[in-house]
Amino acid sequence: MRVDVVSLFPEFVTQMSSHGVVGRAQERGLLAIHGWNPREYATGNYRRVDERPFGGGPGMVMLIDPLRDCLGAARQADAGPAKVIYLTPQGQRLNQAKVRDLATRERLILLCGRYEGIDERLIAAEVDEELSIGDYVLSGGELAAAVVIDAVARLQEGALNDSESATQDSFEDGLLDCPHFTRPVEHELGDVPHVLMSGNHAGIARWRRQQSLGRTWLRRPDLIDPELLSVADRQLLEDFLAEGGFPPVRTT
Ligand code: ADE
Repeated sequence: MRVDVVSLFPEFVTQMSSHGVVGRAQERGLLAIHGWNPREYATGNYRRVDERPFGGGPGMVMLIDPLRDCLGAARQADAGPAKVIYLTPQGQRLNQAKVRDLATRERLILLCGRYEGIDERLIAAEVDEELSIGDYVLSGGELAAAVVIDAVARLQEGALNDSESATQDSFEDGLLDCPHFTRPVEHELGDVPHVLMSGNHAGIARWRRQQSLGRTWLRRPDLIDPELLSVADRQLLEDFLAEGGFPPVRTT
């Protein structure tokens, strides 16, 4: 997979993507990340990339032409058709289903805005999709681009080692992850749940599923529709709520 990042601070994104799983995915040839700076496509003595907004108001708006030329150069750097994604709080919210879809693409171009945003005409003409990583405002799209890159990189075949399998991640089955424990078994902060040391694989799987269901129900009720739970899952959840002493109805 190839990801081109169009940004006034491309090194910010490429640097952040050079460590851990994402760095390793690049070393393994599973992912290539290229940075493109619209400043290099700006003309004039000052190489302006932004101007004051028409209609007044605070902040600056990124100019069409440097961005368009920069995007054009990024597009032409590789023959494959690229999906252009603009990172913005106005975009559709990123989730794991979206990440799975993006991870199957051969090429993405991630467009990062700074200042108040980008001239809307450039967005209308060049952008295929707008994505937000959450309902808060960052100073630019770079952190969001790094988030997208990290999330898609770990889904590239061969990016994770066996012990890091993505299939058990939170959200892969629409639920939050279960709690995890390691040595020591006994600690002043508490003991590890017995079932995890039982060697009973079915019992462990059942406990983990129950914890995932219970946590999701309590912490992220928006992710569970009780009507859609299987009979078995509903029973696990009811037992979790009964045994755990948690309130049987959601308070949020
Ligand atoms: N740029 C600024 N804020 C953002 C957000 N929440 N998501 C994506 N891009 C952004």
